[in-house]
Amino acid sequence: MQSNRRDFIKGLTAASALAATQSVAKPFVAQPFTIIKDLKKISPNDKIRIATIGMGIQGNYDTQAALRNPDVELVAVADLYSGRLEHARTAFGQQLFTTRDYREILARPDVDAVLVVTPDHWHDHITIAALKAGKHVYCEKPMVQHLNEGKAVIDAWKKSGKTMQVGSQRISSAAFQEAKRLIQAGEIGAINYIESNNDRFNAIGAWNYSVPPDASPQTVDWDRFLGDAPKRPFDPIRFFRWRNFKDYGTGVAGDLFVHLITGVHYVTNTLGPTRIYSSGNLAYWKEHRDVPDVMTSIMDYPKTEQHDAFQMVLRVNFANAGKISNVTRIIGNEGTVEFSENNLILTKKKLPIAPGYGNYDSFFTFTEDVQKKFVEEYDAKYPPETRTAEPVKEVKFEAPKDDDAHAKHFADFFTNVRNGSQGTIEDPVFGFRAAAPVLACNESYFENKVVHWDPVTMTQKNPGAAKSKPAGSGTKKSIPAKKAVTAVTKKA
Ligand SMILES: NC(=O)c1ccc[n+]([C@@H]2O[C@H](COP(=O)([O-])OP(=O)(O)OC[C@H]3O[C@@H](n4cnc5c(N)ncnc54)[C@H](O)[C@@H]3O)[C@@H](O)[C@H]2O)c1
Repeated sequence: MQSNRRDFIKGLTAASALAATQSVAKPFVAQPFTIIKDLKKISPNDKIRIATIGMGIQGNYDTQAALRNPDVELVAVADLYSGRLEHARTAFGQQLFTTRDYREILARPDVDAVLVVTPDHWHDHITIAALKAGKHVYCEKPMVQHLNEGKAVIDAWKKSGKTMQVGSQRISSAAFQEAKRLIQAGEIGAINYIESNNDRFNAIGAWNYSVPPDASPQTVDWDRFLGDAPKRPFDPIRFFRWRNFKDYGTGVAGDLFVHLITGVHYVTNTLGPTRIYSSGNLAYWKEHRDVPDVMTSIMDYPKTEQHDAFQMVLRVNFANAGKISNVTRIIGNEGTVEFSENNLILTKKKLPIAPGYGNYDSFFTFTEDVQKKFVEEYDAKYPPETRTAEPVKEVKFEAPKDDDAHAKHFADFFTNVRNGSQGTIEDPVFGFRAAAPVLACNESYFENKVVHWDPVTMTQKNPGAAKSKPAGSGTKKSIPAKKAVTAVTKKA
């Protein structure tokens, strides 16, 4: 089986190189995808063959993390900038099949799983096509770019029977797993408030990535990059700094809140908020972007069987020139858990039963007789054992030095692939329940409204204009028009 596959790769290389050069000036046209039936099972001794679609910054990190797992082999790469295809062959081996057209990868029987690491506006299209082509999919966060795109991905995943993992890898870290253990063990009592932030103050952190000096319409497949986004002339800034533009990215909410909310959903077992409101501003990085660089969002989580009602506040500030401390803090009525990817502090604090009296209290304003009566009643009601609080306890957890959340996130994906199971830690239902509220943060910001969301059915109750792309955008014929948001059945 292995040698057949190698022959297949060799045979394809020449033809594919030709196809890659021919695809340079092709306009974006979605093709009907063939469902490949009869896929071979991957036995525990077989290698899993992966291909990376989008070999930019994270594509390289994802691929390296995937390959830190045993018996995983990279066979193909798709990207739209020639320099990155060349770099991929240098970094991962000259034998790699490389192309600008991801559909050539989906057509290859020697590819078992694809890593979708493109800009956000391509996630749903490539993921759905890959599942239909019988590939397992590791898709980067946020799973989709718009609220109304989640259902189609979930449906395609369910129909395909394939394994899918969404890529907020931090939930596979030891610290996040410890946070989940503590919260589920009731260590901090009922949760009432959560805050989480990701602040930065540097150009690269604010997504102003380096643009290669050879960027041109010859080295970049601009038409394919645009996909279903509005047509416009070649612009290397938009291609290499796509996060700064809402046509291709999802702003600080989709890009960074999604990591924060994924962590919170993972440790609390929540299904999501019902009410979402954002406020923000483009405060500092004003050169060309059309998304805010400072944003705060408030989400209300209703009481469920899993948790009490709580409020969550998320913040990104790309212009925080002060001391930066990026953590998630979960506050309960018996303590707090504060954690980041590598460490965690549990602080336990339980109030005594007796409320106490005196100091800044109304007690001293009572007459002497009333004070005496008050003390008698208090002593009768609160015996000494009810008056002392348990001492405040602080427990620190440090992740093992070799904890590799990224490789572990892939390990979970590959284990499920080998077992023929769909039960990954971040499957598309979980992935969409995390993505939808942060995409709603954008809708709230751009439309100046509160978004009402049903986390059980995954349905927006007050859909607005931002749920679909602007009329007349992109190549309408090539991608089916976005349908209104509809209910998604709960995961069994
Ligand atoms: N999980 C994480 O911690 C994490 C971190 C960073 C980025 N990401 C996610 O990874 C994705 C990529 O981000 P990035 O920083 O690597 O961006 P990037 O711009 O560095 O790379 C994206 C690459 O995708 C290629 N591309 C675009 N459209 C394509 C298409 N249709 N077919 C094939 N290739 C295509 C581009 O040529 C580019 O090289 C985003 O969704 C981002 O949110 C996740």
